[in-house]
Amino acid sequence: MKRAVNSSKGVNNITHNDNEIEDVTMVTPICFDALKNKGIVIKDIVIALTWIMMIFVIVGCNTKPKVGFLMDSLEIERWNKDKALFIEKVQDLGGIPLVEVADSDADKQLQQAQKLIDEGVEVLVVVPVDLEKAGEIVKLAHQNYIPVISYDRLIKDCNLDYYISTDNINIGELQANYLTKISPIGNYILVSGPTSDYNAYLLHLGWMNVLQPLIDKGDVNIVLDEFSQFWLPDEAYRIVGNYLKENNDVDAIICGNDALASGAIAALKEHQKNGGVLLAGQDADIQAVRNIVAGDQTITIYKPIESLAFAAANAAIKISEGEAPSNMNITVNNGKRLVPAILLQASIVNSQNIKMTVIQEGYIGEKDIFN
Ligand code: GAL
Repeated sequence: MKRAVNSSKGVNNITHNDNEIEDVTMVTPICFDALKNKGIVIKDIVIALTWIMMIFVIVGCNTKPKVGFLMDSLEIERWNKDKALFIEKVQDLGGIPLVEVADSDADKQLQQAQKLIDEGVEVLVVVPVDLEKAGEIVKLAHQNYIPVISYDRLIKDCNLDYYISTDNINIGELQANYLTKISPIGNYILVSGPTSDYNAYLLHLGWMNVLQPLIDKGDVNIVLDEFSQFWLPDEAYRIVGNYLKENNDVDAIICGNDALASGAIAALKEHQKNGGVLLAGQDADIQAVRNIVAGDQTITIYKPIESLAFAAANAAIKISEGEAPSNMNITVNNGKRLVPAILLQASIVNSQNIKMTVIQEGYIGEKDIFN
């Protein structure tokens, strides 16, 4: 059979034989099927991609932020509390805490910072081993667009982002005020923490704010004023012990923390002077509170560790969500910039208020102190 095909240019009679026409009619549906199939494949891919994107969005929204916590050491009792409370709060707020402890080694702390950065933390909270060297951690973090919060101890001379601590000058004043109220005249020994920790300077500043007017009046005499190498008992044992070998006349000792105070007690005991010399420490360690009950230590300082850890965790999570932490209530000069900060208040623990303070707040169990 022959058939005429219209061309657009006019009527051309083109002749095909039946087979040719049959071929065309047979081929055409196959092409459509192929296209249709192709269409289904594309549609499937589009649907699949949409799902994948949705899953990414959902998973993305639910990705828990990683918060790095670089600690100096856990040797002193209080830091174990800081650690546990910080972890608890970060988890409560939906984050993943990653904690490293540097064992008092500043170089190790820098390596640990790199490790946490590699593990994908979005913010670093740092208890610096060394006030100056930790500036390297801040630099490294900033190269990776990670903000840094200095925890309890200030990192000096760098572009630190935030600082969360207690008012350490005020703590020094609380200690010195308490002892000078009891003994406004007398020989005082000052045992500071290490110079690698800015808190040691701040406490000393607080002590001198109170003592200097009394020194000027001639009432108080500073018979020994030393910075230790570590915040540990042996240091104060050595410092106070050496003094007592040569001298007998001491009325009061102010120590940077309870570990130092316990070393001072050991030295005083060797000279049968424990209980006869006023003694201030800091941290409300269990042993220090026991020493207060025993009459060997006059006061300790109770820092609001829970509030400190919670404030840092809150700020860290806010930062990881791309927001600025809300309750920075002050700025502190770290030598390079005015760092937005939170400074909490500490309180005195003496033999009269142990139950009303550390025990009532659940910081120390009653059984740990009174059997
Ligand atoms: C200081 C801190 C003290 C004490 C000390 C030893 O920085 O202010 O409370 O814990 O470290 O770790």
